[in-house]
Amino acid sequence: MLERLQELREEALQKVEEAVDLKSLQDIRVSYLGKKGPITEVLRGMGKMSAEERPKIGQAANDVREAIATAVDTKQAQLEKAAVEAKLAQETIDVTLPGRPVEQGNHHPLTSVVEEIEDLFLRMGYTVAEGPEVEQDYYNFEALNLPKGHPARDMQDSFYITEELLMRTHTSPVQARTMEKYKGKGPVKIICPGKVYRRDTDDATHSHQFTQIEGLVVDENIRMSDLKGTLDAFAKHMFGDEREIRLRPSFFPFTEPSVEVDVSCGICHGEGCSVCKKTGWIEILGAGMVHPNVLEMAGFDSKKYTGFAFGMGPERIAMLKYGIDDIRHFYTNDKRFLQQFKRV
Ligand code: DAH
Repeated sequence: MLERLQELREEALQKVEEAVDLKSLQDIRVSYLGKKGPITEVLRGMGKMSAEERPKIGQAANDVREAIATAVDTKQAQLEKAAVEAKLAQETIDVTLPGRPVEQGNHHPLTSVVEEIEDLFLRMGYTVAEGPEVEQDYYNFEALNLPKGHPARDMQDSFYITEELLMRTHTSPVQARTMEKYKGKGPVKIICPGKVYRRDTDDATHSHQFTQIEGLVVDENIRMSDLKGTLDAFAKHMFGDEREIRLRPSFFPFTEPSVEVDVSCGICHGEGCSVCKKTGWIEILGAGMVHPNVLEMAGFDSKKYTGFAFGMGPERIAMLKYGIDDIRHFYTNDKRFLQQFKRV
């Protein structure tokens, strides 16, 4: 019997040694140490043994069982450790690999130009006003001295929603809205950036939606020279100190007198080139002294108050500043275009 036990021990230890995975190790454990295993059988048969034999065999069987159990446990620990190590080796992260670059966006050139203009006027004491893009006919036209049927309404082809509602064609209605809020008491000093809409066919210089910035100053003793000085400071700030402006007589129903404002050509410096169409000047905005009717309709006494107003298109300003030749570049969002205007 003792020999049989020794054989079992050797056989089992051999198998444990050779086990390659946890599953086969578990099978070995069950087959040698389980209830139906050979060692249990030996122990079960002890009743038939003699009194001297019994403790020896019992002792030996227990030793063998212990030895096998210890071997299985040790092997199990080894196999588990090896499994973890293999997994770790497989999942190793190479921290020296270069990462995937995260693409960084930048401000849209129009946003930058609008903010640059806002900053300038904020420093000159203006505040920023806003108004709705879906506007009443009254504010878009009537309150600006453009009654129904006025021929000058044709200057701005409009997207009407109902008889009385339209997409605003300019930011000028914010003048009327703001003056109403001031209830006839100056000073008013605002700029208003925003989107405007016109029934135009899109091409290199036209867009059915674009941006405007409106300016309005109303106070006692506001004169045309104030307008000129303000716009001169604006042009020099945006385009450079060496640039000049000139005012040309024009017509807008909401201003009297009205002017169109040109900036001296930065390419030929007045000599005449293709950009300024040989004139030496480039038109940048419309302006004028606020029409007394506009002041009165918004509740201001036109005998006491005067004012100036101007309206410009930031797209045009940006195109001139950066030499952009097609307004559609602002809206098609080609990254190759946008990335050229990273702010530093
Ligand atoms: N609203 C005019 C336009 O869209 C631009 C303009 C001209 C605004 C003269 C003004 C102004 O405030 O005084 O064509």
